Amino acid sequence: MEILNVGLEKNSYDIIIGENYAKDFPKYIKEIYSGKKLFVITDSNVNEIYKNIYEKMFGGFDYTVYVLKAGEKNKHIRIMPEIYSAMVEAGVKRKDLVVAFGGGVVGDIAGFAAASFLRGISFIQIPTTIVSQVDSSVGGKVGVDLPEGKNLIGAFHQPKLVLIDNYFLNTLTNRYFYDGFAEIVKYGCIYDKKFFDRLVEIVEKIGVSQDDENYIKKLREHLMKYVNELVYRSCEIKKEVVEKDEKESNLRMILNFGHTIGHAIEQFTNYEKYSHGEAISAGMVDITKIGEKKGLTKKDEFLKIEKLLKALNLPTEIEYPKDKISEIMKRDKKSTSDGINFVILKEIGEVEIRKIGEKEIFE
Ligand code: GLY
Repeated sequence: MEILNVGLEKNSYDIIIGENYAKDFPKYIKEIYSGKKLFVITDSNVNEIYKNIYEKMFGGFDYTVYVLKAGEKNKHIRIMPEIYSAMVEAGVKRKDLVVAFGGGVVGDIAGFAAASFLRGISFIQIPTTIVSQVDSSVGGKVGVDLPEGKNLIGAFHQPKLVLIDNYFLNTLTNRYFYDGFAEIVKYGCIYDKKFFDRLVEIVEKIGVSQDDENYIKKLREHLMKYVNELVYRSCEIKKEVVEKDEKESNLRMILNFGHTIGHAIEQFTNYEKYSHGEAISAGMVDITKIGEKKGLTKKDEFLKIEKLLKALNLPTEIEYPKDKISEIMKRDKKSTSDGINFVILKEIGEVEIRKIGEKEIFE
């Protein structure tokens, strides 16, 4: 079991990373919570698979499980009143605890419900996907989408605890297993060249050609041997960034590498065609090519990123109409009246924030 502490003074919390330890969750929850009532928010997919182990995960607590419809499309402001009503009906009070059990969508919605219900109650994260383990469950960004844009409504509300168990990854489809690796590649690109190289080394170690018909399956089995190491270092980087800049005044923006274009692609395709990781995979390659074209990025860095992402079964090229994507980016939270704060790769391991106009970016 590995433990990381996110040091944010009175908002500090532990991230516990382990394997197959759901039976110990009640013990860890009791360390940060002396009450009895838990309001667990999950989604229909996760609920179907894990409802038979709730007793193991939450035994000894008085828990109510609220099930959301699965999918990014449902991370919408319109679902909030129903959740608040269910919380009232379950008798949730200020001192009670919300549990986010699922992927990034569940974590964002449950965290936002906790941040806003009764002016804010505590919550913990139990992330079940790689994206949510390495990114969204850590750092306290919670929120929902508006028709006009992703995450336009939200808050910074830190969890009291993050319980990461790689046991939950076994039931992900291959698509959603690889999806999470886009965020892991991101950490190497923005912060740690050694970590990027380590990931390349791990992927290359498999020694199976990408043309092999069992490549996807074999690579997944191979990556599972290293997943805790990769999740640990990713969470450690995120923790270091968040500790320095909790509310995204400056440094935290680097976590948005590939996300401005990626979010716009997700929105343009109505959150149906590409998963989050797929969209930001193409977004990272695109912004790196753009950086090179503008003389801001070291030559040919995009080739290394592209090669790694391709080996991880992620798309590196998505066609989109630039005018439409520019329009969507203009409404992004990172947009200001004089341009958008893009995260530009200088070289792998180092990025900078540059304000560039939403049209100028594609020139
Ligand atoms: N996912 C970006 C952040 O947490 O700041």
